[in-house]
Amino acid sequence: MSFKVAVLPGDGIGPEVIDEAIKVLKAAGFDGEYEFAAFGGAGYDECGDPLPPKTLDLCKASDAVLMGAVGGPKWDNVQPITKRPEIGGLLPLRRELNLFANLRPAKTLQALLHASPLKEGRSRIDLMVVRELTGGIYFGEPRERRDNGNTAIDSMVYSRSEIERIAKRGFEVAMSRRQHLVSVDKANVLETSRLWREVVDEMAKDYPKVSLSHMLVDNCAMQLVRDPSQFDVILTENMFGDILSDEASMITGSLGLLPSASLSDAKGDNVFGLYEPVHGSAPDIAGQGRANPLAAILSASMMVKYSFGDDGTSARIDNAVEKALGQGLRTADIFEPGTNIVSTSEMGNAVAECLTQE
Ligand code: IPM
Ligand code: MG
Repeated sequence: MSFKVAVLPGDGIGPEVIDEAIKVLKAAGFDGEYEFAAFGGAGYDECGDPLPPKTLDLCKASDAVLMGAVGGPKWDNVQPITKRPEIGGLLPLRRELNLFANLRPAKTLQALLHASPLKEGRSRIDLMVVRELTGGIYFGEPRERRDNGNTAIDSMVYSRSEIERIAKRGFEVAMSRRQHLVSVDKANVLETSRLWREVVDEMAKDYPKVSLSHMLVDNCAMQLVRDPSQFDVILTENMFGDILSDEASMITGSLGLLPSASLSDAKGDNVFGLYEPVHGSAPDIAGQGRANPLAAILSASMMVKYSFGDDGTSARIDNAVEKALGQGLRTADIFEPGTNIVSTSEMGNAVAECLTQE
C-alpha cells in the first residue's frame, strides 16, 4: 500500500534538505507518494497566505506531512502579522491538524560525541522532549493590547483533557524507552502548572512501571547543562518545551542533526503526524548547497516509524546516517579538521548509498 505524504518544503534551506530526505526515503525502499504544496513565506509569495487552503486540504487528505522550515527576514515585517509564516502558517497548521504532541529527541551521534559544548558532554545524551504543542500561552485567550497599546496580554490556559492527552503520550513514550519520566512545570508560581502536576500524578497510576518525578522548569534548564544524561523523557507544556528543546538540542553539539515529530491522534493503526527538522530556515546559507540535510533525513525516518509503523526501515535510515558520518563526511556546520566537507546533496547521496549497498 502506498503511503501519501504531503510535502511542504517551505523557505530558505527547507527545499534543499527536503529533496535529500525524499532521496533517502526512496533509497530505503519506502513506498511513498509525494505531493508538494506551498507553505510559509513561499505560501505567502505564491497565494498571499502562509497557509493556503489547498495546502491545508492536502495535509488533511494525506497520511503524514513532511516539512522543511519556514520563515526568514523577507517576511518578518509582513502586515498584518497574521500573514507571517509563523503566526499565520505554522501555528494554525499545528492547531488545524490537531498536532498536540511534539516529540523532540536529542541524542548524541557516535561520530559527533566530542562536539557537545559541555565539558562532560562526552557522556551520551539520549533524551526525548515531549512538548504540548496546541495549547498554553501560544494559543490562550485573551491575547491583546489594552491601554492604547501600552499594556500587552497573553494568557496561559490549560484544560484537564489537554493535559491528559499529552501526559498519556509522555507515559507511552517513556514505556517505549527507559521508563523514566520527568514532568516539568512551574508549580511554585503558575496555576496551570499546579493543574498539570495534579493530572500527571493521577495518570501515573496507570503506568506503574514508569518512574515519575516533577521538576521546576528553571531547575530543569540548569540540570540539562549540569548532567543531561540523567534524563530519559521530559514531559512539558508548550512554551517550556520550546525553550528546553532548543537547549537540549544544543548540548548534543549538533543542532543540524535533530529531527522532530508532531503527532495527532491515532487514525486506525497509523498516527497522523507532521515531521520536520528542529533547525530553522537559515536564509543566510539558502541555495548554496551548504545546509545539513541530516535533520530532515532523520525526520523522514521518524515519519516511517511513527506514522507508518515501519521500525525496521526507520532504524536502517538512522544507521545509514551514522555510517555516512562514520566515513568522515561533514557538512559545513559540523566540519572539523580531519573530516571531509561535503555539500547538501553529496551528504544525501552518501546516506542513500549506505542504504542501497547494505
Ligand atoms: C519551534 C519554533 C516555533 C515555536 C516558532 C517558529 C513559532 O520555535 O518549533 O520550536 O515556538 O513553536
Ligand atoms: Mg523553538
